[in-house]
Amino acid sequence: MEKILNFLESRTKVITFWKEYMIGYKVPRELTFPYVFGILSLIMYLVQLTSGMVLVMYYKPTTQMAFDTVNFLIEKYVPFGWFFRNLHAAGANFFMAVVYMHILTGIYYNAYKRPREITWILGWLLYVLLILETVSGYVLPWGQLSYWATVVTTEMPTAFPKIGEFISLWMKGGYELGDIALGRFYSSHTVIYPVVMGVIIILHLLLVRINGISHPEGIEPYDKESGYPFFPYVLLKEAGIAMFFMAIFLTFVFFYMHPFKSPDNFEPANPLRTPPHVAPEWYLLLYYEVFRSVPNKLLGVILFGLILFLLLLMPLLDFSPKRSARKRPLFFALFVVFLISAISLTVLGTLKPTPKNAYLGMFFTFLLLLFFISLPIISLIERREKNA
Ligand code: HEM
Repeated sequence: MEKILNFLESRTKVITFWKEYMIGYKVPRELTFPYVFGILSLIMYLVQLTSGMVLVMYYKPTTQMAFDTVNFLIEKYVPFGWFFRNLHAAGANFFMAVVYMHILTGIYYNAYKRPREITWILGWLLYVLLILETVSGYVLPWGQLSYWATVVTTEMPTAFPKIGEFISLWMKGGYELGDIALGRFYSSHTVIYPVVMGVIIILHLLLVRINGISHPEGIEPYDKESGYPFFPYVLLKEAGIAMFFMAIFLTFVFFYMHPFKSPDNFEPANPLRTPPHVAPEWYLLLYYEVFRSVPNKLLGVILFGLILFLLLLMPLLDFSPKRSARKRPLFFALFVVFLISAISLTVLGTLKPTPKNAYLGMFFTFLLLLFFISLPIISLIERREKNA
């Protein structure tokens, strides 16, 4: 064994790399449980990549074949095809859930602040790519929901005068959704987005190593040498949590796929019949509710983009010298408002579009925006407190 390791070390420097990146990487002793969500996001990316590789062997991206290859060939004839499909379908939901928890952890501990701004920007790009990845993947089974959800998505750009029509046509590859659109979504979903995400994930992790993980108590800079080595202590602890997480995930995959499969999508796409309810998956309901609660389509699209954009701008908006919600009561209060509005918008997205729900939607959209708008104000207050 030693000989093999020496052979590899002399040619690839693999042991030096391991020592530098796993043992030499020290994390604060005070690290809390939510810091595990980054690793869980990484695991879910790998689950999606590997299960997708199997599905792609049998799937045919044509409007004639797509539905049958998924619902008959893969589900019924390919050995363990159902398992890989379930992994992939439930996996998308678990991936989104852990990424949302990872974002919330970053916000709570103010991990976006100097020197981690670029880690945050790369993370934000990963989130946008993940949204695109789920939207493009939704089209592939070519069921009723796939088709009609894509009609809604590709119509959204038409809210913009003049260029909107062009963008919509470009996305669809024509006036109707058909083979060209399916091919485009297929290529983006299986090659473009996953490859770009893979590259960004590597850069994201490199930056975490370079800047060190943020301190839950908001101490910056902190004495890195007083922390625990990532390997074996932190990695093993996180592996234990990851196994527990995988046990829950696989319980759903094997025994309870019901929440991840809509009956409407077990019907082949029919351009002549609109299903009664076309709503996105839970992880996009927030944006859907923002979009539909305002009376103007263009304003809806702008607000949807604005929320995403403000999330990107967090390192600029929050310039307070203080860090971590644990040390910032005002920020903590705002964080709670943010959380309540995000959850309320998601819940409202599942309800019928009544005028009362639209008003509630507008109210929580306002609260959500208030979180971002208040950040510079409380930063100024906290800066003054610190200087006083
Ligand atoms: C494919 C998706 C992603 C993967 C695989 C991933 C992976 C990771 C890992 C393994 C870490 C180190 C451990 C940790 O802090 O949990 C990390 C840290 C970080 N991530 Fe992500 N991440 C993803 C998406 C995001 C998103 C969407 C954001 C924010 C918009 C983000 C922002 C950050 C920040 C700021 C850090 C540094 C945390 C700190 O120092 O406390 N990441 N990421």
